[in-house]
Parts: sequence; C-alpha cells; structure tokens
Amino acid sequence: MEKKTITGFSKLSKRGKIKWIVENFFKDPENVMRELKSYLLDNEEHQKILDGISENSISNYVLPYSVAPNVRVNGKTYVVPMVTEESSVVAAASSAAKFWMSRGGFQTRIHDTEKVGHIHFIWSGQFEKLHDRLDSLRNKIFTDIHPLCANMSARGGGVKRIELKDFSDQMTNYYQLMFFFETKDSMGANFINSILEQAAQSMDQFFLEQEDFDENEREVDVQMSILSNYTPECIVETWAECPIEDLGEFSGGINAYEFAQRFCRAVQFAKIDPYRATTHNKGIFNGIDAVVIATANDFRAIEAGGHAYAARDGQYRGLSDCKIENGQFRFSLTIPISIGTVGGLTSLHPVAKRSFELMGHPDARELMGIIAAIGLAQNFAALRSLITTGIQKGHMRMHLGNILIQLQANPEEKEAAIDHFEDLTVSFQNVRVFIESLRKNKQKVIST
Ligand code: MEV
Repeated sequence: MEKKTITGFSKLSKRGKIKWIVENFFKDPENVMRELKSYLLDNEEHQKILDGISENSISNYVLPYSVAPNVRVNGKTYVVPMVTEESSVVAAASSAAKFWMSRGGFQTRIHDTEKVGHIHFIWSGQFEKLHDRLDSLRNKIFTDIHPLCANMSARGGGVKRIELKDFSDQMTNYYQLMFFFETKDSMGANFINSILEQAAQSMDQFFLEQEDFDENEREVDVQMSILSNYTPECIVETWAECPIEDLGEFSGGINAYEFAQRFCRAVQFAKIDPYRATTHNKGIFNGIDAVVIATANDFRAIEAGGHAYAARDGQYRGLSDCKIENGQFRFSLTIPISIGTVGGLTSLHPVAKRSFELMGHPDARELMGIIAAIGLAQNFAALRSLITTGIQKGHMRMHLGNILIQLQANPEEKEAAIDHFEDLTVSFQNVRVFIESLRKNKQKVIST
C-alpha cells in the first residue's frame, strides 16, 4: 500500500495528528485511537512536560520503571531505578548487587570529570603562524565567552584550557581548537556547544583583525563547533573484591577457586577477541543504560563514549578487568560516564525527578559511581551465569511470562505452564505446544 504523505503535520493539534495517523495507517482506526490515547497521562501537567520533550508526539511509549535494591556503593546502600525493555537485566543486577552487598559492596573512584569540545576549521596558513598568536586568540575567546560562563563559574566550572591541534597532515588545512571543560553537576552539552559557537565567532573576528596575515589567511572557515562524546578524562572506576573463599559455591558444583579462575578467563576472552568484547560490553551497558534512562540522561552519548574508550588502544576490548592476587578476587570496571544531575531533563521529567529522590539526590560524581557499579554488577551476573549454568535457563524463565502473554494464556494456563517448565527448557515453540495441548484436553473434557 502506498503510504500517504502530509505537509504541516507538526502544526496539527495532537488530536489531529492521531486522527491522521490512525485513519491512514491502521485497519481499525477507532480502536487504535483509543489505545494510543490510553497511554496518555491523566496528569495534564506531566503530559505537557512529556509532550515538550520531543516533537510530533502522539502518545507515550511506556517501559517498566524497575528498581534494584541492595546496591551498596562506597558504604551507602541505594535502591537504584532502572528502565529497560530486556527481561532479566534488573533481576541480574539485583542478584549481583545482593551478592556483593554481603562482601563489602562496590567501591568507586572518580579519576576526573573533564569534558571536551572542538572548533573544526579550515585555514590556509602555516600552523606555526597560528601557534605564535594562540595566546592572543585564547585571550580574545576567554573575554568573549565570559558572560556565558557566569553561572557555570559560580558553580566552580567553566573552560579549563584551549589547545590548538594540527590535522593538516591528514587533510589539507584542517585544524582544531580543542576546549577542555568542567561542567560540575550538569552534563553540560548546551553549555559546551554555546561556548564553542561563541568562540567560533570570536575566531572569525580574530583572524580578520590580524594585520600581518595575507588576504587568504584572514579568512578562517569554521566547519563546525561541537562537543565530543569521547570523554576519556571523564572517568569512573568501580570495583568489588573479596577473599576467593568468600565467593562461595556455584551451580554445577563449581567451587570458589574454580569459579574465580573461570571468571577471570572469561574477562580475558573479552580483552582478546572483539566479537566477545562487544557482547561483554553490551552486558555492561544493559545495566548502565537502564540507570541512565531512569535519570533522563543521554544514553547514546554514554554508549558512544564507552565504546570509543573500549577501542582506545586501537582494538575494541572488554571494559572490565579481573585479578586474582594473594588469595583475593578483584573485579573492576573503568569507564567514561558523562552525566548530569541538574539541568536538562533531569529536573524536568517527572519520573526522573523521582529517581533522584529515590537515590537521595546524588551529585554527578556520586551518580557516576552508582551507574558504573550497576554496569559492573550486570557484567558480574552475566559472566557468573555464562561460566556456570549458561544464561538461557534464567533468561527464558523470565521470558516465559512474556510468551504466555503473547499466547493469551489465562491464569489457570499460566500457573500450569510455570509448574511444567520449572525444570524444562523454555522456548516459544515448547510453550505454545504445551498451551495448545492444555486447550485441546480441556476441549475434549467439555465435549465428552
Ligand atoms: C545479554 O543481553 C547480555 C549478555 O550477552 C552479556 C554477556 O554475554 O556478557 C549476557
């Protein structure tokens, strides 16, 4: 079917948007309209806030708001909010957090919180000529951006330094001004980009004013001014450790020593093989993203930065580390996490606001630690399953509920299926056959 096109969709009222969509793209417009509307919030004020977050919204896309209790970080116990679409992520984080709670919990250390941004420009002069007057350019920029920095400076943040980068060996006349920022408790994207765009204008003027530059040199072509989501200096390290014998017994008769060996080997696999590293890190981000979303932070930014960091030596590698030393098992994660606890959606999104309250209003450094700890917990739970029982048993058990919903199982059928699959492998096919046989038997009983 050829889909209709429309001009001025964004100008329609919400009702008009829904109407156009359901009438043109669905077989059952009235039902779909009712369903889409049923996801809208009764609280009009909150709904208005959600509508303001994005454009052309016609409903809300709902995901579970879950929590992982018993997350001990630096001696403080948190209930951590998590938003994810993947079953077993929250169960895994919770179980790993509980495991480590009785073994001292997670420790964290913030290495630094520095963020960066660049003005990418094309200039036909010699690097040395520009380098010679870098201090004057810096002074002009610092003077011009001063008014934009007032609030951030009051909070102890701002532009830390500006460096000139020469990429002309890789592209003719390509240079950068690289800015280093401290944005305190805000993620700082708007602050950084505003500063960079102002600085780009200052650069234009500065070049025009250079009397000993020739005509070409006076023209600088700023191509773009933008923050970088690669933040290798905005780093948090988290770890959990205990004497090996305290790790306990594991499924399949694996003792603590064997477990520790197998576990460290699994971490090593992800250091060696990018295929394994990608899945290993995906597991870490299962936890990280869920908390980042629950706190209305930018999970794409954190994912992008994390994966770039994972490839910082030229090969993509697992982000976590494992060490067995002097009878001690130590599992750690070092990762860039650039988040905010003030500004942006963090103080606007009604549920995100509750997430912060739930965790006792952490500042950015504390939240970096909590997020990293959940990433490590997630990775621990995944590897623990992988090297012992495998993940499918637990995973498919969680998935059984979803399969039963899809098969429209009634409460009686659900109970029977949960009992039946207690020790059996869950698959969509197996569950379908089981439910169908229940239904057939019932049919038989009715007709005899
Ligand atoms: C599944 O979402 C995540 C895992 O594949 C992670 C891993 O393999 O380490 C279980």
